Amino acid sequence: MSPICEAMGLGVTYSAESAPVCALTGIDLSLRPGEIWGVLGPSGSGKSTLGLALAGLLPETARITGSITLAGHRIGRPADWDSLRGRVVTYVSQEPGLALNPVLRAVTQVRDSGLCALGMNRKDADRAARQALERAGLVNHDLQQAYPHELSGGQRQRVLLARAFLLGSQLVVADEPTSALDAVAQSEILRLFVELRASGSAVLLITHNPAILRGLAQQTVRIECGRIVSRSSLPNGEGAA
Ligand SMILES: Nc1ncnc2c1ncn2[C@@H]1O[C@H](COP(=O)(O)OP(=O)(O)OP(=O)(O)O)[C@@H](O)[C@H]1O
Ligand SMILES: [Mg+2]
Repeated sequence: MSPICEAMGLGVTYSAESAPVCALTGIDLSLRPGEIWGVLGPSGSGKSTLGLALAGLLPETARITGSITLAGHRIGRPADWDSLRGRVVTYVSQEPGLALNPVLRAVTQVRDSGLCALGMNRKDADRAARQALERAGLVNHDLQQAYPHELSGGQRQRVLLARAFLLGSQLVVADEPTSALDAVAQSEILRLFVELRASGSAVLLITHNPAILRGLAQQTVRIECGRIVSRSSLPNGEGAA
């Protein structure tokens, strides 16, 4: 099976006032459909930078070297992301509040993804958005109609994952998706990644916590100071740490 996402020799340097910050160097990875990869590493090691780079969401101050290929498209310039974001790659942010529009209801935000990215008509997009929210565990009508500030952190994560379900994203990059959640909410969100995997998506799961990757990730990479320092490969995702 061809990889959904390949990075070769990927490097990211941020320009900063004093001196450039080299956040990533020489990253090689290749995710196939139906795989969950874990990314571990200490704070500041470059995990979010990797996720943002693969999702095409780095700020303009970032310079990329090496190559990224998504769903067979070699990324050459920033505009190449425009047709890939959403349908090919979805980024579930470390702070889901920042990824949601504060003045739009949850269901509207998911519906708009269907309208814009999939070209659905409004009625179909409405129905698909409600189904995606239910699949992501946001079943209650009032919660579907809520604004982001009226939702808990876990509920906001579900809205972002509903968007990935609706769009059928081939790659979901999830940056610390469970760090602010209690144990119950955490295991419910992790179950959604298993569902995404079952439907053929690849998931890059960035976390500080090796325990959540156990039984979930087929591959785990550890990043320190912007470099991959170790890899572990567990074909069935069993016992990964
Ligand atoms: N926009 C930016 N401009 C300049 N430097 C940045 C920027 N974003 C991140 N960095 C730097 O790049 C390095 C990697 O940051 P990154 O956010 O990727 O780390 P992280 O592993 O996700 O950390 P955490 O676990 O705390 O979220 C850090 O040294 C950070 O200060
Ligand atoms: Mg981070």
